[in-house]
Parts: sequence; structure tokens; C-alpha cells
Amino acid sequence: MAKNLFIALEGIDGSGKSTQSQLLARQLQQAGHKVYTTFEPTDSPIGKMIRDIFSHRMEADHKVIAGLFVADRLHHLSNQEDGILKKLEEGYTVISDRYYLSSYAYHAAHMSMDWVINANSMAADLLRPDLNIYIDVDPETSMERINKGRSSTEMYETLDNLKNVKAKYFEAFEKVKHDENIYIINGNREEEEVAESIWQEVQKIL
Ligand code: ADP
Ligand code: TYD
Repeated sequence: MAKNLFIALEGIDGSGKSTQSQLLARQLQQAGHKVYTTFEPTDSPIGKMIRDIFSHRMEADHKVIAGLFVADRLHHLSNQEDGILKKLEEGYTVISDRYYLSSYAYHAAHMSMDWVINANSMAADLLRPDLNIYIDVDPETSMERINKGRSSTEMYETLDNLKNVKAKYFEAFEKVKHDENIYIINGNREEEEVAESIWQEVQKIL
């Protein structure tokens, strides 16, 4: 029997990852799969610390943030309560809103991308996504969506940052293209159209 899939959704802030995570989960469930949706930063104490830093409740250097994400990810994978590895063993198809490609893109603005890739190698060895779906949205469109849907913008959510993160994502794709299965989807469309393209691609690996 085919192993359950692990799918990571990637993209700049406001690209539609959480929306598409829900829509993909629904499609998979309708096709008879047990689905577990999850996200990073997680809601564990490590994830909470990260959110506290982003909302300026706590001060920390970018190296510390990158390190916290590594720890949050390893905990996300291996914790015995609802860790991704456990969920896969239990027969769930797992969809994660962000995984290590997010770290490559977001932290490489502040340190070498190779450092970030190395720091995440343990997570990559434990579990590589069967498919990384990058929802490709123009930073301007993303910014409009963010400002419409949210009351306050988080630390990384300025237009210049989004442009930089997008460039770093593509730099990362080039670097890891031989190790990762990456599907880039045009996200500047209606939710349902994006969802349909994602579903077409996921069906190929089911
Ligand atoms: P992310 O998880 O990548 O930050 P969200 O799924 O939360 O993105 O979407 C950000 C905002 O944009 C939300 O208000 C959401 O309803 C809206 N949105 C998501 N996808 C689309 C789309 N394809 N077209 C227009 N608005 C969208
Ligand atoms: P998230 O809550 O997913 O925000 P959004 O819904 O806007 O995408 O993520 C919070 C921020 O964390 C987001 O700006 C991206 C950043 N991030 C990193 O900097 N490194 C990482 O490894 C991950 C997973 C996220």
C-alpha cells in the first residue's frame, strides 16, 4: 500500500496557504483519505515564543529566531501527542502550512542560506515532503490581501520584505531542486481555481 502523503504548502505571507490547506483537505477527505492539517510556527510553547518575538513582546536576534524555528519543526515532527510522524503512522495524510522551505526563504535575508539548510538537515532527514506546493502570488496582491484580512501586520509583512522573501524562495528552489519535489502554482487567481490546480497535481502522486 502506498505510504501516506506529506504535503507542505509554501508561499509568502497572504499567498493563500491556509485557505488552500483547508480546500485540499476537503478534496482529500472526499476522496476517502484521513487528513491532518497543521502549520508552522506551531502552537507549542516554542511556536508561542516565536510569535511573541514577531509581535514584539520579546526581543531576539535573527539567529535565535532561525534556531527556534528548527526546534519548533523538530518538535512538530516528533512529539508524541500530535507529531507529524505519529500522524503519518496513524494513517493520516498530512498537510502542513509551511515547512523548512519557509526557513530557507525567510532567514536567508539575515544569514547564509546554506547555514539555514544545514540547520534544518535533521528535519529533512526525518521527513521530506512528498510534494512542496509553492503558491506564487505577486507581493502587491499578497499585501492587499493581508491588509484586508488582518488588523495588524506582523514583523515580516512589508512589501519590500515580501519581495525579498519571494526572491529567496526562488533562490532556494534552484539550490534544492535535485532533492525536493516542488510544484509552483499561480496563486493570483480565484481560490477555487487555485484549489483545482493543486488538486490536479496532488492526484498525480496519490
Ligand atoms: P496565508 O495563509 O498564506 O497567509 P490566507 O489563506 O490566510 O494566506 O489568505 C490571506 C487572505 O487572503 C485571507 O483573507 C483570505 O481569505 C484571502 N485569500 C486567500 N486566497 C485568496 C484568493 N485566491 N483570492 C483572493 N483572496 C484570497
Ligand atoms: P504564519 O503564521 O504562517 O503567517 P502567514 O499566515 O502570514 O503566512 O507565519 C508567521 C511568520 O513566520 C511568517 O511571516 C513566516 C515566518 N516563518 C519564518 O520566518 N521561518 C519559518 O521557518 C517559518 C515556518 C515561518
